[in-house]
Amino acid sequence: MEKYVIKGGNPLVGEVEIGGAKNAALAILAAATMTDETVYIDNMPDESDTNAMLQAIASTGAFVERTGRHSVKINASQIHNYTIEDYIKKIRASYYLLGALLGKYKQAGVVLPSGCNIGLRPIDQHIKGFTALGAKVNIEHGIIDARAQALVGSHIYLDVVSVGATINIMMAASMAEGKTIIENAAKEPHVVDFANFLNSMGANIKGAGTDVIRIKGVERLHGTEYTIIPDQIEAGTFMLAAAATKGDITIKNVIPKHLESISAKLIEMGCQIHESDDAVRVVATRRLQNTHVKTLPYPGYPTDMQPQITVALGLASGISIVTESIFENRFKYVDELTRMGASIKVEGSTAIIEGVDKYTGAVVSAPDLRAGAALVIAALTAEGYSTIEDIKYIERGYEDFDQKLRDLGAIIEKVDDDKEIQKFKLKNA
Ligand code: UD1
Repeated sequence: MEKYVIKGGNPLVGEVEIGGAKNAALAILAAATMTDETVYIDNMPDESDTNAMLQAIASTGAFVERTGRHSVKINASQIHNYTIEDYIKKIRASYYLLGALLGKYKQAGVVLPSGCNIGLRPIDQHIKGFTALGAKVNIEHGIIDARAQALVGSHIYLDVVSVGATINIMMAASMAEGKTIIENAAKEPHVVDFANFLNSMGANIKGAGTDVIRIKGVERLHGTEYTIIPDQIEAGTFMLAAAATKGDITIKNVIPKHLESISAKLIEMGCQIHESDDAVRVVATRRLQNTHVKTLPYPGYPTDMQPQITVALGLASGISIVTESIFENRFKYVDELTRMGASIKVEGSTAIIEGVDKYTGAVVSAPDLRAGAALVIAALTAEGYSTIEDIKYIERGYEDFDQKLRDLGAIIEKVDDDKEIQKFKLKNA
């Protein structure tokens, strides 16, 4: 099993280039099956989640080709399998194939998604949306099946702000008869990017980025060429890495507007932020200051950036409070961080953090994607050596994470066994 071995203590300095947004990519890939014409997608991140989605799409009978490391060509005219069981179990976004295939073929089945274990993660709002459009949805033998004679537009009020439900309903409604209105819709950048993609295929979606989205169904969608937006969370992760290691990183190929909630917190914590058109520079010269953070749907502070800021606040002066309001089980990594010397008490959905002067290296295990990245940041600041196990979670959503960190001066290597860890320690003694 591959692990990262890290020698901490180096401030990260330099430039890093951000890739395409994973969470936009997963939805866009699924929606590419909604036309018989060829779809070309650029800025596709090369990560295990996007690769699993590509395999799942290929298993339907669609033609899928990576024409370059970051470009994909899909032609779904030969789809013959509407129930996807293999490949997809690992990725939660498998549910996007429900909305896509239901919209185009009026039938779809996928294995009930699991994904990162960060809470209950129900899909009742997706089901409510499909049902409102006229589909019958059944769950049997671990498979969720949706089918309809015809889909008909509807007025849907989401009970919770859900990225997944908003996107899934947009897909099915795009090929339904008549108009659909989604109220209390998610406003995340990848929701907007996804709507732009579907519109480039001939869909008629208005209002994405606000909490009311209006969709006029169309009979068919056509081929397109599309470039995915930069990944807000990958960018944010490097911003927090700069802050925690007292570094100076210029994060390139980003949309600074998407990072404002993170930039605002970093300024409160005493960092300097310099924005240009498509880059953000984070400079941290002194000890971070405490602050309070509450995760919220966009434009609030993202839940996917909660572990990273908790790690940074664990080194800040004073007491900080982080409240997780989206997923109830997202503080599991705190036990691991405690073994690196953090002083954090979790009470329900709140972490009370008493900043310590430093972390110390330890062997820790990544419990999920974003917490895994946060533990890497902690190890980069820590005194001595750390080993991060279960990096398969990190590789779900960060392309070349270790290489990008090395380019910023981090001492990190991906290793297979203890012998290689010993070698790393000797080399970096
Ligand atoms: C997406 C992201 C994930 C991010 C999350 C919130 C992808 C592939 N994943 O996940 O990285 O952390 O948005 O920004 O894009 N909920 C329900 N019923 C539902 C659906 C959701 O109660 O049917 C609840 C969830 O339990 C959670 C909240 O709504 O409390 C938000 O979840 P949602 O936005 O749907 O998250 P995902 O789309 O799964």
